[in-house]
Amino acid sequence: MPQLTVLPSNKVIEAAAGQTLLQALLAGGESLSSKCNGQAKCGACHLFLKEGRKGVSRMTPTENAKLDTIVGVGSKSRLACQVVLGEEPVTVELLGALSGF
Ligand code: FES
Repeated sequence: MPQLTVLPSNKVIEAAAGQTLLQALLAGGESLSSKCNGQAKCGACHLFLKEGRKGVSRMTPTENAKLDTIVGVGSKSRLACQVVLGEEPVTVELLGALSGF
């Protein structure tokens, strides 16, 4: 059961392997936008994956293409709806109004 740490609040959520980051964050009470219903089309779920990148699903061409259209993207950027959790702990930084779209 992966532990999900959410910055900047430092909240810790007990997630489940196989869940997307978006599902885990919403289940944990975070208010992350998902205007496209997790289809990698809106970019609203953009966040920084700070730790645990090797334990989650790899970026798909679809996710990569969407990230290319978002302002403020960095090397740790991911779309929460596209990241499937494994067993490793993960730390994410929510960007809120800074998400840049
Ligand atoms: S919810 Fe739209 S891109 Fe993730």
